[in-house]
Amino acid sequence: MSVSSVSSLAADRSVCAPLSVLGRDVTVPLVTGGEVTYAALDYAASAPALQRVWDDVAAYAPYYGSVHRGAGYLSQLSTDLFENARRTVAAFLDCREDDQLVFTRSTTDSLNLLAAALPADCQVFVFETEHHASLLPWRDARVTYLDAPRTPAAAVATLERALADRDPHGPALVCVTGASNVTGEIWPVRELAAAAHAHGARIVLDAAQLAPHHPVSVQDLDVDWVAFSGHKLYAPFGSGVLAGRADWLREADPYLAGGGASRKVTRRTDGGVDVEWHETAARHEAGSPNVIGAYAIASACKALTEAGFDTLVARERHLIDTVRAGLAEVPEVRVLSLFGDDAPRVGVISFVVDGWNSSHFAAALSAEYGIGVRDGLFCAHPLVRTLLGSDPHTQGECGAPEAAPGEKSLNAIRVSFGAGTPDEHVERFVGAVRELVRDGARWNYRTEDGRCVPAT
Ligand SMILES: Cc1ncc(COP(=O)(O)O)c(C=O)c1O
Repeated sequence: MSVSSVSSLAADRSVCAPLSVLGRDVTVPLVTGGEVTYAALDYAASAPALQRVWDDVAAYAPYYGSVHRGAGYLSQLSTDLFENARRTVAAFLDCREDDQLVFTRSTTDSLNLLAAALPADCQVFVFETEHHASLLPWRDARVTYLDAPRTPAAAVATLERALADRDPHGPALVCVTGASNVTGEIWPVRELAAAAHAHGARIVLDAAQLAPHHPVSVQDLDVDWVAFSGHKLYAPFGSGVLAGRADWLREADPYLAGGGASRKVTRRTDGGVDVEWHETAARHEAGSPNVIGAYAIASACKALTEAGFDTLVARERHLIDTVRAGLAEVPEVRVLSLFGDDAPRVGVISFVVDGWNSSHFAAALSAEYGIGVRDGLFCAHPLVRTLLGSDPHTQGECGAPEAAPGEKSLNAIRVSFGAGTPDEHVERFVGAVRELVRDGARWNYRTEDGRCVPAT
């Protein structure tokens, strides 16, 4: 058995459409009686696994072995698989020849790794609109938080102004999201990268929401690093990616100290220990790597590439149009947007409903219609507060609940979808919104541990 035959074994087993996902036949009970198939409309939090990813992982599982360590056949096969996964993902991201690709746990982990690798005196520029994973890791550096722009052009102008004021001699990093996890709007990454570079700064792209929906080319966008998570890219096996320029990563202390990151460890005569660290990606991958997680991401990258992003984008456009048109017909619904109706977007839409507590609305969608959405502030508190028109600097808990059912909304509801989402799910969602607003909930709800739940 070789690496290529593991892959072909999986391919032979695969009888599914290229982008079909697990869980489409799962049924859930309704409080009002009976069962329905679950409509998973919370892809922006975690997308279901692609069937192809699942098949690939299952085909490899019997051949699983330790990576970079064992002398045995399966260890070598697993090591090959892990390093091949690195190459596949680098190709998917269209990385430069000399870029490094580190397997991490998630986007959050990737951005914290980069934050730990910043050169001394690095200035960081980040919009207040970012997900907390992009907003918070830099707090030990000199951070400038930029106000929410209301157009893509204003985003570029805001960054230009901030960079023009900076100390031009020291290192600087801009961190920007590719697509908002709140509004789904796509940010002008290429233009922001050009502005960053024109002022001698570097840029990292948070592609957690972009990569599952759009092709991401490091070279075409001209970003210095890109980060994303496997579980949002249909590969929920605990891995993420940080890819990009090698120099800052090579010069930084290892993210975790331990085996795998160290090339040579010697005892000094004074009793201490000297360590030579790897200069490759292994420097930041101490401990036993998550080979299944890496393999799953590579499998998802291949599946998306083979299916073709053109097909994916066109299909998603149709779903977005259906949801937006449906919501537009309900006057009580307000869709949250920074850049306006014409902005390019991915399948992530947040909204509030006049007179409804968002947690109550989301609970009713689940309990009465079998629809899974998310409510809260989506780990982007400043942005959601800005969009809701309340104090943008107020902090709350992630997924913070409001008061009781029926009270005015301080949070929002988010619906999100992607590969494998059938028309029926978004049509059921639009019908449910219309019905709930018109007729009200058919069940009673109560607040438990700060969340609305059906009263029994
Ligand atoms: C834009 C964005 N960035 C970063 C993250 C963090 O991803 P993870 O939780 O996988 O680390 C998320 C998660 O929702 C996100 O939407």
